[in-house]
Formats: sequence, C-alpha cells, structure tokens
Amino acid sequence: MAPTSGDTSITRSVEQFCGRTLKYFPGEALLAAYRWRGPVISMGRYVCLLGPEANRFVFANSELFRWREAFEGRIPVEGDTTLIVSDGPEHRRRRRLVQPPLHHRQVENYLEITAETADVAIEQWRPGQRFDTYPGFASLFLRASLHSLFGRRMAEDEPFFEEHVHILLSLVENLPAVLTWKRRLATPQWRSAIAARDRLDERVYAEIDRVRRGAADTDDAMLTSLVHGAESADDALSDKEVRDQVVALMMVSYETTGAVMAWAIYGMLSTPGVWDQAAAEVRDIVGDRRPNAADLSRLTYLKGVVHEALRLYPGAVVSPRYVAREFEFGGRRVKQGSTVVFSPYVTHRLPELWPDPLAFRPQRWDPAGPEYQKRGTDQFLPFAAGPHRCVGADLATTQLTVMLARLLAQRSLYLPEQRIRPTLPTVLHPAHGLLVDVLG
Ligand code: HEM
Repeated sequence: MAPTSGDTSITRSVEQFCGRTLKYFPGEALLAAYRWRGPVISMGRYVCLLGPEANRFVFANSELFRWREAFEGRIPVEGDTTLIVSDGPEHRRRRRLVQPPLHHRQVENYLEITAETADVAIEQWRPGQRFDTYPGFASLFLRASLHSLFGRRMAEDEPFFEEHVHILLSLVENLPAVLTWKRRLATPQWRSAIAARDRLDERVYAEIDRVRRGAADTDDAMLTSLVHGAESADDALSDKEVRDQVVALMMVSYETTGAVMAWAIYGMLSTPGVWDQAAAEVRDIVGDRRPNAADLSRLTYLKGVVHEALRLYPGAVVSPRYVAREFEFGGRRVKQGSTVVFSPYVTHRLPELWPDPLAFRPQRWDPAGPEYQKRGTDQFLPFAAGPHRCVGADLATTQLTVMLARLLAQRSLYLPEQRIRPTLPTVLHPAHGLLVDVLG
C-alpha cells in the first residue's frame, strides 16, 4: 500500500523497483556484442558501429552518409521534405527556417507557457489518484510546444492534434518493409492513418494560408519563420514544405520529451533520496513561484536528473545512417548502400566511461562536485551531433526542467507495483505506461 503524505519516513517505490535501472533487451544484446566482438558488428546490410570511437567517426564524417534512406519509414506520414529526410543544401535551407524559434534565447520566452501548462494539469490531481505519466505528460509537452511555437489558437485544439498524431505514430511504428505491405494491401490501419493525415493536413494548410495572407498572430513564432523567414525567394519554403515541418515538429514534441519525463520520474522515485533532494533544491531556489531563466541555471541537481534520464533511457537507442560512400573503420570495409547504426544506449551504459553506470546519480553532472567529468558527444549523445543534431534539444531540456520543477514543488508521488517494460518502435518509452500514485 502507498504511504500517506503524513508519513515521515517516506519510501517512494515498492521494493520491486528500489535502486533498479530498467533494461531494454535488444540494447543489452548490443552491449554484450560490443564486449565480445568489438566496435564493428555486421548483420546483413546493417553494420553496428559501437562505442565512443565509432561515435566520433560517425559525427566527424557526415559526408559519408545520407539521412533520407535511413529515415524513409517516416515519409508516408511526415512527408518527404522534413529535416530528418533531407540532405545537403536542401537540408540547410529548411533547417535555417526551423531553427530560429528553437534557439536557446528564444526558448526562454516559453518558460511561462510550459509552467502554466504543467500547473493546469497538476492542480487537478487529488491525493489517492493514480496517474499514467506516459502518455500523460506527452500530451502536456505537445500542448506546451503547440502553444510556444504555433500560438494559443493551435494549443486550444490540442485534443484534435493529439488524436491525429497518435494515429500517425502508430503507423510510423511499423518497420519500413511492413509499412510497404500495409500500403500495397491498403490495410484498415493504413487507410485510417491516411484519412487522419488528410484531416490533419487540412487544418495545417488552413493555418499556413492564414499566415501567408498576413494574418499571423504575435505568438505564431514557428509558422511565421517557416512562411516568411526566408531571405530570398529562392530560399522560401512551399506550402508542402511548411506542412511537413509542422507535422514533424508535432510528432516529435509528443513522442520524445514525454517519454524522457516518464523515465526521469521513474529514476527519481526508484532511487532512494533523489526525489527529496530535487524537491529541496526547487524549494530553496524557486519556492512556490514559476521558475525563470536565472532559476534554471541554478537548478544543478534537477538538471542532473534530466541528464541521467537522457543517459539511461535515450530516446534513440540506436540511430541509423545510410552509407553513401564506402569507407573503412576499425580495419573493416563498410560498403555503399549498407546502413550504419550507432548507439547512444550502448555508449551511455559503458562502465569504462560511467562509473557505476546503472546507478541514477544526478550528482555526476554537478560541475562543482567530485564525480563530475566533462562529456563530449562521443560519450553523451542523446541528441546526436553533426548537421542533423536535434534542433529541439534546448526546448526539450528546458521544458523537462520546468515541468519537473513544477511537479516537485506541488506534489509528492509514489511508484506502485506494476509491469514497466521499456519498448522502442520509435522512441524508448514504457510499453504499458508508467503509473504513479499521488500522495499529496
Ligand atoms: C528529449 C527529447 C528529444 C530527444 C531525445 C531528441 C533526439 C533527437 C535525435 C537523436 C535527433 C537526431 C537524429 C539523428 O541524426 O540520427 C533529433 C533530431 C531532430 N529533433 Fe529531436 N529530440 C527530442 C526533442 C525534440 C523536440 C522537442 C523537437 C522540436 C519541437 C525536436 C525536433 C527535432 C528535429 C526537427 C530533428 C531533425 C533535425 C535535422 O534533421 O536537422 N526534437 N532529435
């Protein structure tokens, strides 16, 4: 039974989870393969390049790779002009217009929206209530991103966008070959996803049209940048290109950050003392207010919580690259046309890089603490590196810190008995949700 908020010696999880970091078994198999066979492992047309040296090589030699073929499974839903399936000059042209509203100085303007979104939801929780953190928080991140990037009008329609994003995500979760078959056979799932995509498109194109006609609201930062941000007519995006960026941003806002939030809550509740220390830091630095930018820079321990969640449960367990030019690495030739995968999951759990790698230890990230080590992207790569580095990294980490701060300031949670299993298809998330009990 969950303890009550009046209990002075509070434990925050059932025994089952105490001090336990969860394992994703395909990730563990890769980790074992790296131990036995070293950094290069061939599996048919896939070649795994594992460990920090391989990460350095992949990030330093982006001209060897293409993204389009590597991420083609997302094209039927998100479109064929999103950043992740664009290469070369087209990628740079599109990225220049997606980037400005996600710049870290710009992200500071979204703190209040993020905190308000969290507060409205958290205030409705009652002691004794059971809440599913995933997908519960995923909806909140979608709402906060819609409001921050596309304005209040679109945020108010969050249930419509969430419903449609959900249907589209369940299609993208299929492997590309399965997707091809579903398309050829026009299965019910395919038809319902395409119908959802068409309804979503209609809504998004109406917004694009509004902004093109000069009727942008002042809080339409992303649409304004995509529609009017180009410096010359040659660089301007077509309606289709704008639509693709908008849909991709919605999908990623929902699926990635919400999953990391659930893992951060899991880490804090399952590791004795972490929740209390994070809550004490928030109390000391922010009190009952909503955090501002100056507060965020001082929430060292809480930022460590976010980093530990990203380290132990990186959204991308592996990330693919299509090999455009043959190359050699670790004494092995890798042929053109194969697909290379590198693995944040494997790298983030290597004991030679991370002392006691499975321990959830936010204090590792405190620059003034004894455990601190500066980490390059060869060792810590939740957002990858190079030309396609996550353009939403600042937004994601800031939203996570703010949502966690508001949660810690207002509520006390308990992790009850349940089955929690990390699963992948798109990002690493709890397969059956992650339930918490509200204590007070
Ligand atoms: C904790 C949350 C997130 C994680 C772990 C994450 C992770 C990543 C990773 C690993 C990549 C690079 C993929 C590769 O090169 O293999 C990526 C790309 C991208 N991310 Fe994120 N992401 C997160 C949140 C977000 C958010 C909130 C947004 C925007 C609202 C966003 C937008 C994008 C975009 C547009 C790309 C493609 C960039 C390009 O191809 O140039 N991400 N993300």
